[in-house]
Amino acid sequence: MRVLKATQQAIAAAGAALRSGALVAFPTETVYGLGADATSGRAVAAIYSAKGRPRFNPLIVHVRDLDAAQRLGRLTGSGRQLAAAFWPGALTLVLAKEPRCPVAELATAGLSTIALRVPAHPIAQALIRAADRPVAAPSANRSGHVSATTAAHVEADVGASVAIILDGGPTPIGLESTVVDATSAEPVILRLGGLARDDMERVLGRPLALARGATGKPASPGMLARHYAPAARLRLDAGEVHAGEALLAFGPTVPKHAAAAINLSPSGDLAEAAANLFSALRELDAAGPEAIAVMPIPHVGLGEAINDRLKRAARPQ
Ligand code: TXA
Ligand code: MG
Repeated sequence: MRVLKATQQAIAAAGAALRSGALVAFPTETVYGLGADATSGRAVAAIYSAKGRPRFNPLIVHVRDLDAAQRLGRLTGSGRQLAAAFWPGALTLVLAKEPRCPVAELATAGLSTIALRVPAHPIAQALIRAADRPVAAPSANRSGHVSATTAAHVEADVGASVAIILDGGPTPIGLESTVVDATSAEPVILRLGGLARDDMERVLGRPLALARGATGKPASPGMLARHYAPAARLRLDAGEVHAGEALLAFGPTVPKHAAAAINLSPSGDLAEAAANLFSALRELDAAGPEAIAVMPIPHVGLGEAINDRLKRAARPQ
């Protein structure tokens, strides 16, 4: 495994590694991805073993632009509106798979739908172009861990299984992409993420429903009750810090604390808080506290996705 600064040369080598069937980890504007050639079942299989992930979880397929996306999935009215407004970006659209879609069945877990994303990060863009094919990539963490937002996190979680980690520094958004099922006329959010619900609602001109995680079969493992999990217990909406607790703070007014503390955003900026969330959880968890006290996060804009992750991480194991 090599960790390479993402120079042109390194990206060319990573593209060749993908074409040869190896795994490459790379930054996107949301989180790091664990990439494989999406058209190769064998390459995709290596992703599942690297993550220790159940086979039936379908992966996001990353493509360079809208045209490339349309060769793989069918864009309908609302999906088209969202793609036009938010691609490239932190949006994943679940679409009906095109009949001649060359993506391996394993990448879509045998479903008739496919999750597609056009990432905006220049390194992700350059890598997809260098590979010259769709790149299947889940978040580059062990299954059940919080997503990796730095190359060091990737190395710690899945380093043994990848050929190259392209280091592009910390990912700017820090939350996974927002997943929207756009297979029908009524799109629904399958996973809250780096693109806020109200931004999409403004474009669609109507409210966008959130799929219920609890309605029978989970449409998206992002909806699993406990999914983003540090080892320490999380105590949410904490106004004070108890003995033995670490503190995950937010905003300018912080309660007194003795042990480890990290402020997601001293100025109270939700985008900054999202960018820092997963690395802060990893860092506080590593200190081995009895629990992590989490200050309240406003439930607006990206706060909705941050609270979603915190709520899942707070569920008992
Ligand atoms: O920001 C992100 O989304 C990152 C970067 C690397 O793109 N990727 C990511 O992938 O978070 P992953 O595999 O950890 O999460 C993909 C989500 C899962 O919740 C999965 O169930 C859902 O997308 N998904 C994928 N294909 C689907 C499909 N055909 N139908 C419904 N949900 C699907
Ligand atoms: Mg993930």
